[in-house]
Formats: sequence, structure tokens, C-alpha cells
Amino acid sequence: MNILNLFSSHSLDVLTKKKIMNKKKPTLSQHINIGQLRIDTWDLLKAQASLLSNSETGSVKRKKCQASVEDALKKLNNLERYFAFPGLSSIRLLKETFKQGEYVALSHKTNEFIKLLVSDSYRQFAALEPENTWMKTTKKSSPKKMEGFAKKNYFEVLFVEDLSDVAELEMRRKFQEIQDKEDQFIYKLLVVPSFQDALIAMLFNHNIQSVVVRYGPTFNSQHITPLIQPFIENVLKIDLSEQMESALGPLLGKFIRQFRPLLNIYYITDTSLTHLKDSTLNNFDRIFYRKEDLQELHLSIINGIQERYNTPFFSALVDYSKKPMGVFHAMPVSRGNSIFKSNWIKDFGKFYGRNLFLAETSSTTGGLDSLLQPTGALKTAQELAAKTYGAEHTFFVTNGTSTANKIVQQAIVEPGDVVLIDRDCHKSHHYGLVLAGAFPVYLDSYPIEEYSMYGAVPLKVIKEKLLLLKEAGKLDKVKMLLLTNCTFDGLVYNVERVMEEVLAIKPDMVFLWDEAWFAFAGFTYNYKQRTGMFVANKLYNKYRKEAYKKKYQQYINALPAGETPSMPDPEKVKIRVYSTQSTHKTLSSFRQGSMIHIWDEDFQRKTTDAFHEAYMTHTSTSPNYQILASLDAGRRQVQFEGFELVEKSIEMAMVLRAKINDHPLLNKYFEVLTVKDLIPDEYRTTGIVEYYNPKEGWTRMEEAWSKDEFVIDPTKITLTVGKAGIDGDTFKNEYLMDQFNIQVNKTSRNTVLLMTNIGTTRSSVAYLMNALLRIARQLDEEFRSLNNTEKEIVKKRADSLTKEFPPLPNFSYFHQYFQSTPGIPGGNIREAYFMSYHESKCEYLPLTNCLKTLEEKRDLVSATFVIPYPPGFPVLVPGQVISKEIIQFMLALDVTEIHGYRPELGLKIFTENTLNKQSTIPENGAKKKVALKPRGEEE
Ligand SMILES: Cc1ncc(COP(=O)(O)O)c(C=O)c1O
Repeated sequence: MNILNLFSSHSLDVLTKKKIMNKKKPTLSQHINIGQLRIDTWDLLKAQASLLSNSETGSVKRKKCQASVEDALKKLNNLERYFAFPGLSSIRLLKETFKQGEYVALSHKTNEFIKLLVSDSYRQFAALEPENTWMKTTKKSSPKKMEGFAKKNYFEVLFVEDLSDVAELEMRRKFQEIQDKEDQFIYKLLVVPSFQDALIAMLFNHNIQSVVVRYGPTFNSQHITPLIQPFIENVLKIDLSEQMESALGPLLGKFIRQFRPLLNIYYITDTSLTHLKDSTLNNFDRIFYRKEDLQELHLSIINGIQERYNTPFFSALVDYSKKPMGVFHAMPVSRGNSIFKSNWIKDFGKFYGRNLFLAETSSTTGGLDSLLQPTGALKTAQELAAKTYGAEHTFFVTNGTSTANKIVQQAIVEPGDVVLIDRDCHKSHHYGLVLAGAFPVYLDSYPIEEYSMYGAVPLKVIKEKLLLLKEAGKLDKVKMLLLTNCTFDGLVYNVERVMEEVLAIKPDMVFLWDEAWFAFAGFTYNYKQRTGMFVANKLYNKYRKEAYKKKYQQYINALPAGETPSMPDPEKVKIRVYSTQSTHKTLSSFRQGSMIHIWDEDFQRKTTDAFHEAYMTHTSTSPNYQILASLDAGRRQVQFEGFELVEKSIEMAMVLRAKINDHPLLNKYFEVLTVKDLIPDEYRTTGIVEYYNPKEGWTRMEEAWSKDEFVIDPTKITLTVGKAGIDGDTFKNEYLMDQFNIQVNKTSRNTVLLMTNIGTTRSSVAYLMNALLRIARQLDEEFRSLNNTEKEIVKKRADSLTKEFPPLPNFSYFHQYFQSTPGIPGGNIREAYFMSYHESKCEYLPLTNCLKTLEEKRDLVSATFVIPYPPGFPVLVPGQVISKEIIQFMLALDVTEIHGYRPELGLKIFTENTLNKQSTIPENGAKKKVALKPRGEEE
């Protein structure tokens, strides 16, 4: 494990020197995960061993230190059995050294282990050192000797078998011998004796990439102590102690497959081939028999890693760039020809380096494949991505999720189809609907007025709309439900519940989950449960089971007449799920790198052709190869490091949250919003109001994530700045950016959004903390220097930002003319959009005149999208009636960037004449004359 990057509570203590001096023993509640606990315990051992080595024989201090060292070693003995380095053998050595009273040596060796851990260089030592001799490594770690090993990729193989010490040593020796010094990959064994220990190791140890289950392991671990218990709640929930040992091997394979599906798993058994169950064959990559040679197992391990390591497109591009080429196509920068020969833009070439230009080409030859019709490297790269992200099909997109969304919409919906869509979704969806000619039914999120933000769409709102459409006989027209998960602010849906209850009403609903901000979520267990692909797979398998069919029948028989079912009919239900992810937002990819993941049981039959047409419609015929290569390489990264890096980014976010909220100077001006601030009580059945408190630690997050309607993604940190009398936009620009070069992208009236991601380092978090502290001090000083009147002004500003909340308007409704069917949800946004192209049909009305005009009972209907930044989604769409609340909201907006609105002209609206004329088009024309409904009752 890369301990260097692990964010321990200790590491943040560097911000306040005093805390280091008074460093307390780590207690459970201070630790988000085992990585933190582990590194803190090592730190404690280091400090105490050092004090011990300087203490006088027989002194009280010595006795105290001895007790502390003993305690730390005991804890590490418990923790290190789940890691190959430093591992149990190192702890044994330290214990021995301690027992013999060699305190200076103890301190020295402890320091060395920590150094290797935090510098990550133990990975290279693995290549040098035979098993069990880590402790002698330091002498051998000369830079010269390390050369050549630095390029090797290190991982650990988990062996699950209860072996005697002698047998274990012998096996390690054999594997050491088999490993080829020339291999690109190098591994160490981690041997654990039981089923429970194997699951614990899976949770704790990110270096494990392969697992070998030998025969039937025992179930119970002998090492479950109060120290690790809080971190293994999920493991302890599994009780298979009654199972026969022979059944435990296959069951372990199944659990590992669920928990860390990307690992390679091998099974060594005696069970005859005829008795092996299908599920066993499915869960293991390969099955070996006891007598088979270890060499085969070793080769399988290496081969499994190699397959995951392969990056077909990136490698093809590298190969291509190395070949000499004559360029006779249309791309002067290709091979750098127009750059490096130039007298004027050589600096451009120098900045990016030669490789970029060597890899730039418009040629699809030389193994480079074509994105529009992939048959080679790109096809394989996309197939590997599908496997990694748990999809049936994955498509790379080079123009961001903005384009991915339009592709999916065009592929699924036809003109006249109805799409249920969250109103505050990204604008690409609204444009997609205009292009596709579908009728949007806008769904309102719950408002969070205090922070001028919207939440997410409650399930009851979705169901209400669906039932309205059902009553109106329009359910067959409804094609798609489109939701943003997670939202920009980090609100995460209960994807499974939404899909189940919607499918119970509309069994063939297509779901488009906009996971622009959630590509990372598939790589950690908690998060994964709330992703489109995972749930699609889960529900597909669930509904096919006989047990479900039976349960459904009983449920339906008992359901009171007229009540809406919440279980889908297994005979009718179809699983059709699409998710779009901006890989570039949360994982490694160049800007605009995005993916469409598909889990659609009707894809082949119903959508393939339409999807390919839509893909062609929106994809450039000159896709950027560097973006594609980065998607391929980023896929490799998450294969091996996704679990580790995502957990780390969550950990850092958690620490940052706690540090800001617990710091007296910071919380004078700032506050990190917690679960209860962003999610109303009614959507939290667990009643959990925050994920951390000092008594219970961090573990409650799991419970909330498994039950609540909405949860918060902790990596999205909403920081309130209103108490400081500063609005979000000013704080972003004049404080964070101008003074500290800290970039954030989203703000609201009184908040800024901070995010951690897999690239966030400990030092960047420390830098942010430092910046916030400096700003807080600066604010203190500024306030002190003000006279009383000035102080009043600042207080008033702060009051306005924290106590006066401009109301957040809901989506009003489409004007009668633009309703797809009068009185029924759904609007013809496309028609309104194109009607606005005609100058004579539109006019402008200054914002300040709008309220008065509304009082005069005139219908104001927007001719355009009006999109203020923030919040970044349309407050008006073409055809929408402009309500008093929307005008009030716009008047209160203090942002300067509002797309679709020019202050000097006013709002672009349809003329009265246009609307009157349109509503009297004869019946055989495009529109019927319809009886007017009272406003606001259209939906
Ligand atoms: C929810 C959502 N979907 C889609 C997009 C567009 O993604 P991209 O920037 O990859 O085009 C964004 C961009 O911020 C977004 O927030």
C-alpha cells in the first residue's frame, strides 16, 4: 500500500505544531479507516521507541515507554498480518529486539520500516529481497542497486490457507524461485489462514491484486480484536461458520468477486470436475488441482495481471509514434513537422514535448483503428473498459459527457416520446431533447433555500408524474427517466429503489443516469451500490430468479385493489440502463474524455442501429487520439488502483470536513455542510445526520448508504462562506484564486464547493487548510480595523447572506400552446426552440418590467433557455411560462453570467400575437384550439 499518500489525521497535525507535541495515542474514533490507524500506530511506535532508547535504566520514564512500545507492537501485530510489508515477520523481529532490550536498534529499525512505507520504496525492495528478510534491506537499498527495479510493478497475492510456519516458509521460497527476474511484474505472498481473515485483508490491503484460495479454508479468524472490529462491520455480518469447509472455498470466491470484482481469483481444490458447480467455475479465473505444479499457478497470476495491464490503444499509439512516417494527409502538426521547423512557434513544441506531436495523426492505419467503426485496438480498449466498469458495452466519447448525453438521448427517444427529466440537470440534456424532439416532463428537486441550491428529485415526485401520465393513458409514450447521480453538490440517489419502484409502474422504462461526477464510484464497495451499471446487473439477475417470481406473486395477491405496486412484474420487466461519465472529471483522462456505459437487455434487438447512428451524428470524424489513449490508460489505473485511490480521496475529504468544522478559528467564518443540512429528514430513514462523530467514528456512513433515499458523497464538500460576509463567487475569485491560486468551480450565493479526487494529495489539502486559516485571520484583522459603522455594514452583509434567502422557483409549466397534450405533463420544447428563430414572433421585455406585466395578466412565455451560472441549469426553457417566482429569483441573482439573457435587451419572450395565433390553428393543422386551463394546473 502506498502509505505515502495515505492521509492520516497525524499528517494534518503539521498545521498546528502544538498538536504534534501533545500527540495523543490514536483512538478508534479518530480514524476513518485502517490505513490511518496503521500509520498512526507506526508513528506512535517510532516516537516511543525513540524515547525509550534515550531513557535511563530503571527510570519511571523507561517503564512508561516500555509499556507504550509493548502496546504499539501488540496493535501492529494485529494489523500487520494483513500486509506483506512490513508484515508479521517484521513485527516478530521488532518484538525480539525489544525483548532483548536493544532499544537503539529497535528505534532504528522502526524508523527504517516507516521510511520504506511512507516513501513507497518497499515496492522496489520486493524485487530485491528474498522472503522474510525485509529487515536487512536498508543496507542493500543503495540507489544503484535499486536501479532497474523501479520500473517493476509490485503487487501482493493473497493466499488463503491455514499453513504451519514451516510449510508457509517453504511455499514462499518456492514462489520466490519461480518468479522471473526479467518479469515486468513482481509480487509477494500474503498468507492468511481463514475465510474471515481473507475478507479483512481484502478490505485493508490495496496491494492485493490476485487471490489464491487453497482447498477449504476455516471460517473463523483468531485475530478479530476490538482494535480492528469497527473497521470490519461488513465482514462480521457474514456468518458462514456452519458451512462445511469444502463449501467455504467457492463461497469465498463469490464474496471476493462481489467486493473486489476486478481481482484475479484462483482456486486450488480436490473436488472432481464433475462436482464443481457452475457458480464456482464462474467466480474463479482458473481452477487448479492440488497436484499441479506451482509454475502453472505462477504463470496464471502473471498472465492475469498482464491482461489487466494491457492498454491496447495507448500501446498502439506509442508504437505508431515510434515508427518513421511520411505524412501525406491533412495534419501539419503530425510528427511535429509544422512545429519544430517553425521559426515562431518552437516554444509551443518545446512546452508539449515531441511525443505529443509524434502521436498526433489523422491516420487510422498502423493499428490505430477508427473510433467510428472500431475493429482493432479501440474495440478491445472499449471492451476492457466495459468489463472494468461493469457494463455490457462501453463507448468512448471525445467531446465530454455533454456529447455522451446527446448520443444516448438520440439513440433512445423519438420525436413525441416523453422523457422524465430532472429540471436542474446539465444543459446538454435540454439541448438533447430539442434535437430529439422529445417532450420533457420536468421533475423538481427539493430546494435547499438556505444555501441557494437544489437537492435531488424525490422518488415520490417521479412516481406522481408517472401516475399522472398513466391516468391520462400516456404511459406507453413515456420512454426514459433521466436523473443526475450524483449531483454537482454530491447528492446521491438510491438507484436501486428508484429503478425498482419506477419499473413497477413502467416495466420497460429506459434509465439514463448522468454520472458525469461519479465515474470513480464503481471502484469502492459502498459507492458502487448506487451506480447505474451495478444496479442494472443486480436487478437483472434478481428478477430472473424463481424466488423473486414467487415473492412477487404473493405480493401482488396481497396488494389492496387500486394500490400502486412497488415490485416490478418479472414477466414484463426489462432492464435498460445507460450511464454517461465524464472520466476526466474524477479519474485520469484528458479533458473531454468521457464514456457511455450500457446495460440494456434490448440493446441488440432494439437500439444497436439507432445508437450507432446517434454516435455518428455527434462524434467528430477527427477524434482526438490523445483523449482516447488517456481513457485507455485511465482504465488500467482504476483496474489496479481504483479501490485504493478512491478510498483515499474519501478519506481526505472526511479529514478535511472534520478539521474545518472542529477548528475554532475556521468555524467562526466557515462551515462544512453535513448530511442534515443538505438532505431533509424525510429522506433519511436511518436518522443519520452526519457521517462522523467522535463517539461512533465514521462507520455510520455505510448504514446511511444502504438505506437512505439520498446520501452525500463526502468528496464533495460544500463550504459556507456567508458568515464571513462574502458571497460564494467573490470568495472563489478574490480569495481562493487571486490570493492562493486555489481553483474551485461551483459556488452558490453563500457557499463554495470543494472537491477531493484521486489526484488530491495530502499537501494540497494541507495547503487548502492553510489558506483557509490565513483568510480567517485576514478577516479577523480586517474586522478589527473597521469603525462601528463599517462593522455594521459587514454584519448586515453577513446577515443578508445567512438569514435572507431568495426563494428558489420550481419549474412553472409549459404554455398551453407548447403542451404536448393540454393538461398533461410534457412540453414541446423543440417547437418553441425553433419558433424563437423568427424575429417577428419574439420580443424583449426588460426584467424590471416583468412583474408589472404579469400583474396585467399577460402570459409571459420564454422563447429561449435562460441559464444563470451558478446554478448552471436553465431557470427558463423555450415554451415555459415565466412565473412571478422566476422573475423574483432572477432579480435577486447576483451573478454576472446568465446565458440566454442580455440585460440591455431583457428576456426574450413570444409576442402575444404569436401565442394567440398559434392557439387558434385549425384542427387539421398542427394544433387544436384548446380550452384554457387555469395557470399552474397544467401539470
Ligand atoms: C451533471 C453533468 N452532466 C454533464 C456534464 C458535461 O460534462 P462534460 O464537461 O464532460 O462535457 C456536466 C458538466 O459539468 C455535469 O455537471
